[in-house]
Amino acid sequence: MARKIIIDTDPGQDDAVAILLALASPELEVLGLTCVAGNVPLDLTARNARIICELADRRQMPVYAGCDAPLSRKLVTAEHVHGKTGLDGPTLPDPTMPLQDTHAVDFIIDTLRIQDTGSVTLCPLGPLTNIAAAFERAPDIIDRVQQIVLMGGAYFEVGNITPTAEFNIYVDPEAAKIVFAAGAPLVVLPLDVTHKALTTQPRVDAFRAMGTDVGRAVADWTGFFERFDKEKYGSAGAPLHDPCVIAYLLQPDLFSGRDINVEIETASDLTLGMTVADWWRVTDRPANALFIGDVDADGFFALLIERLARL
Ligand code: RIB
Ligand code: CA
Repeated sequence: MARKIIIDTDPGQDDAVAILLALASPELEVLGLTCVAGNVPLDLTARNARIICELADRRQMPVYAGCDAPLSRKLVTAEHVHGKTGLDGPTLPDPTMPLQDTHAVDFIIDTLRIQDTGSVTLCPLGPLTNIAAAFERAPDIIDRVQQIVLMGGAYFEVGNITPTAEFNIYVDPEAAKIVFAAGAPLVVLPLDVTHKALTTQPRVDAFRAMGTDVGRAVADWTGFFERFDKEKYGSAGAPLHDPCVIAYLLQPDLFSGRDINVEIETASDLTLGMTVADWWRVTDRPANALFIGDVDADGFFALLIERLARL
């Protein structure tokens, strides 16, 4: 039986690759895509999610628009990384499939109430606003969540949007605090691990060598997306953040981490949005997350290339 997941997303080129990986994998049943404001404003993330579904020829995939701003702060976006559209790189046709009428937060609440307890995994790839809003409005759903596997945070890698904070957490730290404290089984894929999954040239070439629309789009997206990180970090490619979430669901043995306490800074201007990960267990704060620190990068890309070639 395929594992039921909801992907909460702010596409974003790396979100796009994560969504395609999920759609290409029969082990997963994507119940819907819930869009959130993040990399770019909500109207664009909701547009981009549909572009990605149509690229994968999955026009029946329900796509929901969610929160257009953090719970209690002004939205911070990342056009400097993802471009004006959020999916810069290839030129892709405007979507023709419709958005669902239901709000993403209602979809998350309704789905968790309708599906069997413990049968739905939430896969947040952007700011945690939709998830936190759902938990706040309907606390009864928290115990019904099978697992939350999210991309966000940073410890040894430190921040990418400020010296101490990773973008998804920084955009809505209050939402992150709610999700990290909710008590649902939580797996965190921070920059510590995503920065070990770099889109080196041979890997980008392998996408393009697929000779498919998906392969070309992924090569163009990673080609665009990596210019910022390569310049900033001088690295051999861009960290492919969000696909790590889906790869973890498919092959968790590619990853390793520790069950530790992770708290979110929501008060200090200097370190707002920092994930304070007690990696060395120097406090007696209870573990609330499996915090992933390492990945078999070659195994990750082998999985990604094999699966994307199926689309
Ligand atoms: O910091 C990386 C994260 O922020 C990724 O999810 C990327 O898509 C952006 O949302
Ligand atoms: Ca994202």
